[in-house]
Amino acid sequence: MAKGSIVAGVLAPHPPHLVYAENPPQNEPRAECGWEVLRWGYERCRANIKALKPDVLIVHSPHWPTFVGHHFLGLPRFQGLSVDPVFPHLFRYTYDVAIDVPLSLAIKERCDQAGMTTSVVKNPAFRLDYGSIISLHLINPLWDIPVVFISANQAAFYYSNEIGAQVAADLGHATRAAIEESGKRCVLLASCSLSHRHFVNEPEIPEDMSYERIHHHGQYLWDMKVLEMMRRGQTRELLDIMPEFIEMATSEVKAGCLTWMLEAMGVPDYPAEVHAYGTVIGTGNAVVEWNPMRSGRTH
Ligand SMILES: [Fe+2]
Repeated sequence: MAKGSIVAGVLAPHPPHLVYAENPPQNEPRAECGWEVLRWGYERCRANIKALKPDVLIVHSPHWPTFVGHHFLGLPRFQGLSVDPVFPHLFRYTYDVAIDVPLSLAIKERCDQAGMTTSVVKNPAFRLDYGSIISLHLINPLWDIPVVFISANQAAFYYSNEIGAQVAADLGHATRAAIEESGKRCVLLASCSLSHRHFVNEPEIPEDMSYERIHHHGQYLWDMKVLEMMRRGQTRELLDIMPEFIEMATSEVKAGCLTWMLEAMGVPDYPAEVHAYGTVIGTGNAVVEWNPMRSGRTH
């Protein structure tokens, strides 16, 4: 069997507004328009990912927070209704998700071998987290590729951002080892925003773009700083400043998603492709692709 590989990694933020504005049949609320720059960026990224013909999409999301280790899904299918608790008027999404259970359990096994605490969900009524569902929908709205969900272990981040990053790196290394052993072509999705301070009031029409802007200038400067590092391939340096970025911009990368993905990819030193940057209720969001083939790097 050929060695498996990570064929791409995507920073794939999950504001429910983006799915709301797309009006897919699975989502109940209807929108007129909104957040087009981000949605068009997702369209471009989606085409690149589809061209890679991945076997599996693996997503790590802050909205499946766990406090005793990392959890994995152990059943082949989950169906249900996902409602965003903050924006229930924007996101009420009916999902039907096929899980790659062998790979899910293989990553769990590698985590166990590395001395990490893990758990497997075997409750068919378990409700999948909306962050993962939104990122997966925006990357593959047809849902015709099996997926693996990984929970965000937040215990280490409570201790410090630095220790949290170490645990996220351990998870990344375990993920990579399991992928290589699986023989599968995998795409990783880090489901999070960049800066994450947001407004607490919403306009009467949620998609009224005359209200949409960054929460404050300092947050914008931080977002541009980290995007420039991604564009230059300065990923190691980015990981070095991640703890400070988390503090200064209240960044959602605190959940460990981006660190997990970059570490799993071996801390790529080639330029990432920034497909879009835009704000959603004041938070900074970017669709960014690390694709070794498109960057002229083999993997
Ligand atoms: Fe979120």
